[in-house]
Amino acid sequence: MTSVSVESKIKKENFQHYIPVIGDIHDKSPLAYQATCGVVNVVNSVQMAVAEAYINGLEVPDPVLRSLFDTCMPVFFKHFPSLLAPYEWVLQETEDAAEGAKDLMKIQYDLPQGMLNRMLGDRSLIYPKYSMGLWEKGAETLEQSQMQMIDDIIEKLDIQDGENILDFGCGWGCVPNYILSKFPNVRFTGLNLSHEQCEYMRGKMKDPTSYLSSGRFTLVEGDLNEAHFEEKFDKILTVGVFCHVGNMTKAFSKIATFLKPEGKFFVHIITVRTPNNISSAYTHKYIFPHGRYWNFDAVPNRNKDLKTVKRWYLNGTNYSTTFAAWLQNFDDNQAYFGDLDYGIDFAKFRRIWRFYLIWFVSNFASCDGEINGNGQFLLVHS
Ligand SMILES: C[S@@+](CC[C@H](N)C(=O)[O-])C[C@H]1O[C@@H](n2cnc3c(N)ncnc32)[C@H](O)[C@@H]1O
Repeated sequence: MTSVSVESKIKKENFQHYIPVIGDIHDKSPLAYQATCGVVNVVNSVQMAVAEAYINGLEVPDPVLRSLFDTCMPVFFKHFPSLLAPYEWVLQETEDAAEGAKDLMKIQYDLPQGMLNRMLGDRSLIYPKYSMGLWEKGAETLEQSQMQMIDDIIEKLDIQDGENILDFGCGWGCVPNYILSKFPNVRFTGLNLSHEQCEYMRGKMKDPTSYLSSGRFTLVEGDLNEAHFEEKFDKILTVGVFCHVGNMTKAFSKIATFLKPEGKFFVHIITVRTPNNISSAYTHKYIFPHGRYWNFDAVPNRNKDLKTVKRWYLNGTNYSTTFAAWLQNFDDNQAYFGDLDYGIDFAKFRRIWRFYLIWFVSNFASCDGEINGNGQFLLVHS
């Protein structure tokens, strides 16, 4: 770097340090930090006012809602990422590895499974999978996109027949079922706190057409904060779970104790290529309590018990297309969904969810998917 460019970088950093609102919220002077937090409160209030007006019945046609998100999100991502950290806990590591797990199960994962399963798609091999499908290799259906996503994971994690694998936050057992179908001697353990999702897998473990019934799948219903395994695994994977982990350092230390010395650990998460982690007041209240979207450097910055040896960024348009397919399924099943019990009026529930789904279709497509996407990280013992 020439002395001129070094100088201009220093100037830029100083500028971001003293000026509120722009740039990385971590780098702010105390005054600029306080001012930024003040503006964040205003942004939160506006966001919640718009969202709650919609939830409570304000008629906004989908294209109008979409264009609102399409207009605002690129501006936030590119110029004001510091305003996307609505709470201090988004910026710091929390006490527990996974925070607010009980609320999360109630508000999200233990919802009537008839709704989640139909929205996510429930097929003979591809069970509901609540994470990104891979569309960029030409998939034409949600099911194909999820198969291609798992094939991609198999390749990057270099799964070999005969291995003993742990899926940390295994959802409905989609990833284990698919991988067990491809490798006749692989063994899987799935950990999940959602009782309803575990009930789904228990059903599959009794269904002779399911690979979960092969005797090679062990289900553990429990919280990853308390997880403990006697055996060690050749490979550990976790897909779409670390947005619920508030303390990566603790989680990685724990996972390191489950991994064989030559083992490999694969993390797949929503990630942002903004300077700071982000979240939203809306998703925190209505969709994912304490959900946070980690910055792309968060995993490699925590090389302690485990170290990152490879990482990949998956363009957000893959997730935007996945959310669009879920939104379509959600809309196509309204008659059936209306009869399920959500603990609140269905009309309100429907609006809460449509706001989330429409927003995320737009969110992941913003900035051509280059800022808000998914990250994959391959880690080994340090
Ligand atoms: C977005 S879903 C992804 C599920 C699955 N890996 C997939 O790709 O379909 C996140 C999963 O993490 C589980 N989970 C979240 N917090 C957890 C916790 N504290 N302990 C165990 N599982 C948890 C949820 O129940 C859910 O199954």
